Amino acid sequence: MIRGVRRKLLACLCGAGLCLSVACAKSPDRTKGDPGLKGPPINEAPERRAETVHPRQLERTAMVDRQLAGRDLVDPRVLSAMKRVPRHRFVPRPIRHRAYDDTPLPIGQGQTISQPYIVGLMTELIRPHSRAKVLDIGTGSGYQAAVAAEIVDHVYGIDIVCELADDASKRLAELGYRNTTITCGDGYMGWPEHAPFDAIIVAAAPKEVPPALLAQLKPGGRLVIPIGTRHQELRLYVKGADGSVSVQHVAPVRFVPFVRNAGEREAR
Ligand SMILES: C[S@@+](CC[C@H](N)C(=O)[O-])C[C@H]1O[C@@H](n2cnc3c(N)ncnc32)[C@H](O)[C@@H]1O
Repeated sequence: MIRGVRRKLLACLCGAGLCLSVACAKSPDRTKGDPGLKGPPINEAPERRAETVHPRQLERTAMVDRQLAGRDLVDPRVLSAMKRVPRHRFVPRPIRHRAYDDTPLPIGQGQTISQPYIVGLMTELIRPHSRAKVLDIGTGSGYQAAVAAEIVDHVYGIDIVCELADDASKRLAELGYRNTTITCGDGYMGWPEHAPFDAIIVAAAPKEVPPALLAQLKPGGRLVIPIGTRHQELRLYVKGADGSVSVQHVAPVRFVPFVRNAGEREAR
């Protein structure tokens, strides 16, 4: 009996991202005909219920199961954050039908929203936790910031393209994120007013790691950043308690270039 209950609970916990809030929490009450519950009737198909409560939840769950957990991502906080964030809201309307595809997509201004797997990987690499303060450089659509904001205490975001920074800021506010602060500017110098950070995520590739970013990491802090021009690699820098910095070479990647002054490529 207890084993049966446990298995049921586990299946529930391991299922779709909305499972905890919808299937586990509300379904039992619905069967008792709880008049206080809003939403579609209990005899409606589960898929329809999911779509009604959380638009495109099934696609999001499939994205996480196949593209993230189906590869090598394991951090449950990251996987469930990415099941919650409505990626389609960060993509221009004409291509929203592709929002959960296994690919980067254009977001305007010649920029892209990164492939879901890369967002998951970078978030997992910073080892996010609920008290962390994170700097997100190259905020773009705001999607990476939203994923991090689901887990950490506060995300500070910078994008050098002011239209993108403004749109991201409005979008995050509309979606109810109260723990993000986005500005327009060159992220090369970091954001000294809010430093030090527990983690920094950079989504554009400079030739070398900007020294100010390492300086603005707390002891124990983690910086994930693509480095290089034609051949790029994702690197993880970790600052030790004594201030020394170690580097890990994570994977070959392809990001947009890190630009220095608006519209101008970083000097190479
Ligand atoms: C791959 S896109 C970022 C995608 C973003 N993380 C998202 O979730 O949509 C890279 C972004 O880096 C920005 N960028 C490039 N150089 C920058 C710099 N020096 N400072 C801040 N942002 C920069 C670009 O404008 C672009 O929006």
